[in-house]
Amino acid sequence: MCWCQPLEICLRIHRSTTTMRLTAILLCVVCIGAPVTSGAGKDDCQARDFGHGSVVCECNASHCDSAGPVQLPPVGQFLTVLSSKAGSRLARGQGQVLKNSTGAALRLIIVPYQKYQRIKGFGGAMTDAAAFNIRSLSGGAQDQLLRQYFAPEGIAYSVVRVPMASCDFSTRLYTYADAPGDYDLTNFTLSSEDIEMKIPLIQKAQAMSPHPLSLLASAWSAPAWMKTSGALIGKGTLKGHPGGKEYTTWAQYYVRFLEEYGKFNLSFWAVTTGNEPTAGQMTNYSFQALGFTPETQRDWVAMDLGPALHASQFAKTHIIMLDDQRLLLPHWAKVVLSDVHAARYIHGIGVHWYMDRLAPPELTLGTTHHIFPQYFLFGTEACSGWNPADRGVKLGSWERAEDYAHDIIEDLNHYVTGWTDWNLALDLGGGPNWVKNFVDSPIIVDTKKDVFYKQPTFYSMAHFSKFLWEGSQRVGVSSSEPSALESSAFVRTDGAVVLEVLNRSEEHIPFEIWDPAVGFIPIDAPAHSILTVVWATQ
Ligand SMILES: *[C@@H]1O[C@H](CO)[C@@H](O)[C@H](O)[C@H]1NC(C)=O
Ligand SMILES: *[C@@H]1O[C@H](CO)[C@@H](O)[C@H](O)[C@H]1NC(C)=O
Ligand SMILES: *[C@@H]1O[C@H](CO)[C@@H](O)[C@H](O)[C@H]1NC(C)=O
Ligand SMILES: *[C@@H]1O[C@H](CO)[C@@H](O)[C@H](O)[C@H]1NC(C)=O
Ligand SMILES: *[C@@H]1O[C@H](CO)[C@@H](O)[C@H](O)[C@H]1NC(C)=O
Ligand SMILES: *[C@@H]1O[C@H](CO)[C@@H](O)[C@H](O)[C@H]1NC(C)=O
Repeated sequence: MCWCQPLEICLRIHRSTTTMRLTAILLCVVCIGAPVTSGAGKDDCQARDFGHGSVVCECNASHCDSAGPVQLPPVGQFLTVLSSKAGSRLARGQGQVLKNSTGAALRLIIVPYQKYQRIKGFGGAMTDAAAFNIRSLSGGAQDQLLRQYFAPEGIAYSVVRVPMASCDFSTRLYTYADAPGDYDLTNFTLSSEDIEMKIPLIQKAQAMSPHPLSLLASAWSAPAWMKTSGALIGKGTLKGHPGGKEYTTWAQYYVRFLEEYGKFNLSFWAVTTGNEPTAGQMTNYSFQALGFTPETQRDWVAMDLGPALHASQFAKTHIIMLDDQRLLLPHWAKVVLSDVHAARYIHGIGVHWYMDRLAPPELTLGTTHHIFPQYFLFGTEACSGWNPADRGVKLGSWERAEDYAHDIIEDLNHYVTGWTDWNLALDLGGGPNWVKNFVDSPIIVDTKKDVFYKQPTFYSMAHFSKFLWEGSQRVGVSSSEPSALESSAFVRTDGAVVLEVLNRSEEHIPFEIWDPAVGFIPIDAPAHSILTVVWATQ
């Protein structure tokens, strides 16, 4: 099998002459005997190496390595899309499906009659910080950035998480109803962050997207006057008890939020019961949080939030419970969903990735799915650079791209239906964040240069968001022998099969894919790579 990786070759000589680059491109053309589709045109990655293991692609208003449209090859051929530590970024290749096995010891076998969950979508969060960073660029660069995520030539994000009022990724503390004692929410108002920054950007993203975006709202804290702590931060819950004045008002606050966004033609697919309810149970928690136990979350949904949404024009808006670490499963699901009064209002369970290393997926996600198969599981937040041992922005870190792909594949293989990244864009310092909780993002903006950098994690997201569109159904993959490759297979709504493969290993094992419907596909996933293989079956 001949692999064409023009970008990798060009990268090694990226400080050299045009002649050398052209030679590299020619070699690739000879190699696959077909025009080079990526890495060689005006849309190639402007690679920048900041010394963190791999490269970022630099984009400005007029130039960006857009993913571009993807055409499904005819039956009998397959498409490969490769990103790697060595520098490939969604590099395309094509090959012939073989009638006979290559004899490779490792064979991944597609089992289409084993059917699992359907995909909802992938995306990121329009936090105050993300909106602030995007708007710090020139108009042309802003549009370029949004196109990279949402336009058909980009990576087809379909989910946008929207914080309700401030969180740590804000520059000040506020809610939409800060006037003490405003139980009727007469003075409920969106913030200037919503009206001047987030909403116009979400509207632009929506206008670029070929499909309606699935908006998802999460609140970090209730107004201070509704809380036991009298503050937005730290340990604290709503005053009183579910069904009481504060809990009821907090549910009405959600309805008012949906009404106000509705005035801007933005309707929400779902709301969560609140970001990380366990944070508000921790002493001296340093930023906005609202504590719930599984019991109070259950009773608030049953008595307040569920009935309030049901009685409003937003009866179809989904309610996603938990919105916190999957380590809390299946316990939270058992408490909340075993109660018919709460369960009838809930559609899904939101999970964050932060403690995933301590939370075996089968014990948490798998068990929850088997007990409550009618409720979807959905990744509502994840980011790199949150761990004190490995903090903040790391331009070009391939390890972080692997962390993303590993977690996404693990989640998908345990019934999760989508995965939402955290801030859509951050600055070079990983903020702004009022409590200095700086982290990383797939897009880092450099306002001074009016450019943005697409990180390896951007491409990690792309391998899933661009190829696994809504309605794709996970199917079985079996392996002829144990291997270090991580993989997940899907049948899309157009009938194509998509196999996602992550190679984080050190062993050399070329392999083949066998789809009994079409034949054998010879593959070699290079070192430290993410590979998407797509083929038509009819
Ligand atoms: C944008 O990037 C391209 C490719 O690096 C470069 O040729 C062009 O000059 C840049 N445009 C501006 C306005 O900096
Ligand atoms: C495929 O395998 C069959 C049966 O072993 C053999 O007869 C045939 O020649 C092989 N075809 C190719 C192209 O190798
Ligand atoms: C709402 O705002 C108005 C005008 O600023 C103020 O007079 C009124 O007291 C506020 N209501 C509440 C309940 O805080
Ligand atoms: C909302 O959409 C309607 C119908 O498409 C349009 O008439 C109206 O101007 C839009 N309003 C806003 C605020 O964008
Ligand atoms: C919480 O903060 C208070 C006031 O700053 C301090 O006295 C207390 O020791 C802190 N508690 C913990 C567990 O850190
Ligand atoms: C995975 O990467 C290793 C190096 O880390 C490489 O030697 C091997 O060929 C790759 N595995 C497969 C199955 O392609």
